[in-house]
Amino acid sequence: MFEIVDIDALGRIGKLFVNNKQMITPNLFPVIHPFKNVVPASDLKEIGAQCLFTNAYIMYQNELKREKIIKSGIHNHLQFDGLIATDSGAFQKYMYTNNQIEINAEIIEKFQEDIGSDFPVILDIPVQLDDTHEQAKEKVNTTLSRAKDNVRRRSNKSCHWVGPIQGGKFLDLLNKSVNEMNSLDFEIYAIGGIVKAFLEYRFDLTTDILLNVKKSIVPNKPIHMFGLGLPQYFSLAVACGCDLMDSAAYILFAKEGRYFTLSTGTEKLDELEEFPCHCPICCQYTPKEMKALGEDMRIELLAKHNLYLSFSELRTIRQAIREGNLWELIEQRVRSHPSLVKALHVVNNNKTFIEASEKAYKKSGRLYISSESISRPLIKRYDEKITSNYRIPKEAKFLILLPELDTRGANSPSILSWISQINNTQLIPRELLHVVFISDFYGVIPLELLDTFPLSQFESITAIDNNDDLHQNSVRKALKFLNVNIQHYEKCGVLIPEMFLNQFNEIKKFSSKNPIHKIFSLLQAKYASKISNFTNILYLLQYFRTDGMQ
Ligand code: GUN
Ligand code: ZN
Repeated sequence: MFEIVDIDALGRIGKLFVNNKQMITPNLFPVIHPFKNVVPASDLKEIGAQCLFTNAYIMYQNELKREKIIKSGIHNHLQFDGLIATDSGAFQKYMYTNNQIEINAEIIEKFQEDIGSDFPVILDIPVQLDDTHEQAKEKVNTTLSRAKDNVRRRSNKSCHWVGPIQGGKFLDLLNKSVNEMNSLDFEIYAIGGIVKAFLEYRFDLTTDILLNVKKSIVPNKPIHMFGLGLPQYFSLAVACGCDLMDSAAYILFAKEGRYFTLSTGTEKLDELEEFPCHCPICCQYTPKEMKALGEDMRIELLAKHNLYLSFSELRTIRQAIREGNLWELIEQRVRSHPSLVKALHVVNNNKTFIEASEKAYKKSGRLYISSESISRPLIKRYDEKITSNYRIPKEAKFLILLPELDTRGANSPSILSWISQINNTQLIPRELLHVVFISDFYGVIPLELLDTFPLSQFESITAIDNNDDLHQNSVRKALKFLNVNIQHYEKCGVLIPEMFLNQFNEIKKFSSKNPIHKIFSLLQAKYASKISNFTNILYLLQYFRTDGMQ
């Protein structure tokens, strides 16, 4: 049973209950060899593994040990009392395509039932990245018919089957795969045929595939990504709906002397003077000491560090989901590699889909920390609401445009003073005045909405150049709003101060790069007769008064 307890974006925290055991999601199944464990299973548990992934095909092939494992069961064999998933040999066929491996689906699936796997995987046929559509179609069809055979044949009720979704970059095949798998009962749906894309850092492709699967897969089952093991990508994958992953990357990288970090990706042990991490391994050894060890020991320690880091990242991600800060985390993580930034941009093409599951309210304030923040679902939601769901106050005749300063609303002494002058003016009845802020991220923020979520609490970077993304974002959104709404006002006064007081009460020069300059000049070119700019509020209010107000 899968119970979802919290969400952020398409990311979710869930509890998976199986065979009287429980695991939390998002989570990673470390992949281990069934006979040659570099890191013993008991150590894996200590490092944080609630579940393991191993290979049924390798066990089955070993005729000497096969019967013994059937007798003892997989948990005894591996000496691990958590949840165990087993792969069917499809992976071997996928990775070593020229190797003529003969596997029979019925036999390998029955074997997984016999050894008591918690999560066996059917014998699917992974689509290769360079398959033609025709080849991919055949693999998808065979996988689907094997999935149906599997459902019919099942005999061990303790086995909770994993159903692979194939199709890869061919979205029509991927969708066919999802639609048919939806009607077959699997405990976990797993996206296959993407390991080689991970190896080539094609995170844009894997993100696109994941989002396409999420659009039509049943919502009440966990989604697994086969072979996802690079922790820098975990947060983005989780935000796009990935609940589970399995990987041997921690050990494969360790064998190449590679050390996981989240800031710069993987580092070569040879090039490290100090360890940046403080897991038990990195606290106990210096890189120099680790290099001096024998190969087996060195690989084991590096693998352990790599896993500590992976589980630490999963805890960070789950906590970010609880706090509603997953996008903030992702924007930090993608900075470690351009391919990750590219993958984040794929999300932009799917904003409508992701926005639909964004929470209506979050407890904490938002931080807009990079130009990618413009694409956050919450901002898209605001754009839509201000366009289609907002009416300016009925009595408003005069529009006052104010710039955003270093900080918002009541935290800004200058803004407080402007608002106070506007609210207390004797020159014009207050209800005739409508105040709207020009905002880098939101375009416009009407004053009466300033204390509502998500406008009330956010801190953001600001435009620093007339052509940067933020500047363009602000100008485009503000003009969209103003071109539609300006007809409601008799006049519009734009405040462009020379100086202002920042949040520390220091006098600062108002930036010549603030988008309000550009917005004013574009509006003036179009609506010269009813728009003017001022350096202080008093002059601005007088401008409204000189016309028809006496
Ligand atoms: N391991 C990595 N990719 C795959 C896949 O597509 N199918 C299976 N069964 N295992 C995998
Ligand atoms: Zn470490």
